[in-house]
Amino acid sequence: TFVVTENCINCKHTDCVEVCPVDCFHEGPNFLVIDPDECIDCTLCEPECPVGAIFSEEEVPPDQEHFKQINAELAKQWPVLTEKKPSPEDAAEWDGKPDKLKLLIR
Ligand code: SF4
Ligand code: F3S
Repeated sequence: TFVVTENCINCKHTDCVEVCPVDCFHEGPNFLVIDPDECIDCTLCEPECPVGAIFSEEEVPPDQEHFKQINAELAKQWPVLTEKKPSPEDAAEWDGKPDKLKLLIR
């Protein structure tokens, strides 16, 4: 499965959802997650993210491992998103900022 990691928080460009053939992205207020039970490992979403937030589960950086659980948990709670929406106006300012997990709105 593929995993959305920390750099998506407050960036949330949503380009990723447009390419997913199985509509497994779920949207929260300032983050997206992938449902690991639905992802078919097609790899299409990974290069679509402008901030490099998507990884295959084998390639998730060691300091981002907890996002596997976060994706699985929040995918069960949040609605599916299938069409791109405008990025937050301040998305560029958040790209690469450290410690964004504490800003995640569930
Ligand atoms: Fe969807 Fe493919 Fe990305 Fe999985 S790897 S989330 S199936 S686009
Ligand atoms: Fe997030 Fe990147 Fe998708 S910022 S919403 S994973 S395009």
